[in-house]
Amino acid sequence: MTDPQLFQQLRAWPKVELHRHLEGSVRLATLVEVAQAYGIEMPEYSLETLRPFVQMMPEETRSSQHFLAKFLTIRQFFRSAEVIRRVAREAVEDAAADNVLYMELRFTPPALSNILRCAYADVIGWVCEGVAQAMATAAIQVRLIVSVNRHEPVATAEQVLEAALAFRQQGVVAFDLAGNERDYPAAPFAGVFQRARAEGLGVTVHAGEWAGAESVKVAVEHLGAQRIGHGIRSVEDPALLDWLAERGLVLEVCPTSNVHSGAVGHWDDHPLRVLNHSVVPVTINTDDPLVSDICLSDELHVAITRLGMTLADLKKHTRAAINAAFLPVSERQRLLARWDSLLTANV
Ligand code: HPA
Ligand code: ZN
Repeated sequence: MTDPQLFQQLRAWPKVELHRHLEGSVRLATLVEVAQAYGIEMPEYSLETLRPFVQMMPEETRSSQHFLAKFLTIRQFFRSAEVIRRVAREAVEDAAADNVLYMELRFTPPALSNILRCAYADVIGWVCEGVAQAMATAAIQVRLIVSVNRHEPVATAEQVLEAALAFRQQGVVAFDLAGNERDYPAAPFAGVFQRARAEGLGVTVHAGEWAGAESVKVAVEHLGAQRIGHGIRSVEDPALLDWLAERGLVLEVCPTSNVHSGAVGHWDDHPLRVLNHSVVPVTINTDDPLVSDICLSDELHVAITRLGMTLADLKKHTRAAINAAFLPVSERQRLLARWDSLLTANV
């Protein structure tokens, strides 16, 4: 199914990404180096030994449990400030190498502080430093989204938000809810997310991935979500699509992640086929480049080869991503102009 010429064309395109997790973006080779340097026990320090623990494999059961289990392994590798700065820097460098012009990178402070047992403010600061290092040399603009998991306590989310608010001048622009949607409702997090909004942060919530349309509605009505992570199951309720469009919501769709996590059984049934023509703006994203072994160019490529999109569709969705970026209007306008001129120069 791969069309190498199309892939190269998309690789050269200026791109925008709104939904990528830092923990799911670490280089496999870096994890092996960290394991060796910090004495994390492995039968052999090789990429192929580690791969099945952190990446979805072709024959593996595709379910939320299998998918989320990778993040439990990845958490074990954040052993020092140096490692956290390094993975943040490399995640930005990898996006820049894929010609991502603007990226919102999200990260989960409790995942990064899991081994170190340090303050959330410490890990947020190290991520900001790693990102700033990469931005100093790479041609990419990055903003940060601080994420908390549904399956972790609300009190943790409150502490993470408190720490995150101190980093609004260092690139933190929004707050996100991720994790196990099947077993953990979002409603208990309403207060934390309303506070995030009141403090000027953007709000995005993973919903309508492993649960249905009702979960999307809760994210908007109770948590004040402005964007929905995935939101693919909104297609099950056409009235909901109208309702979302009226309120200016935007979906952050991650095509391969949805197949790997079991949210979508088969490419032919991917809701993005319907959402491509929906009243609700959609954006195309990677979610987790390491876990799914992809880059953003791969996701644009599958949108064409497996989901029936055209280059014109992809342009429309990139424009939607720029419009939905958690940036001041003037910066969104500047980004749009830059993307437009690079695209024109590219074709
Ligand atoms: N859903 C929920 N939590 C996550 C995901 C996802 O797709 N990726 C990383 N954490
Ligand atoms: Zn996600």
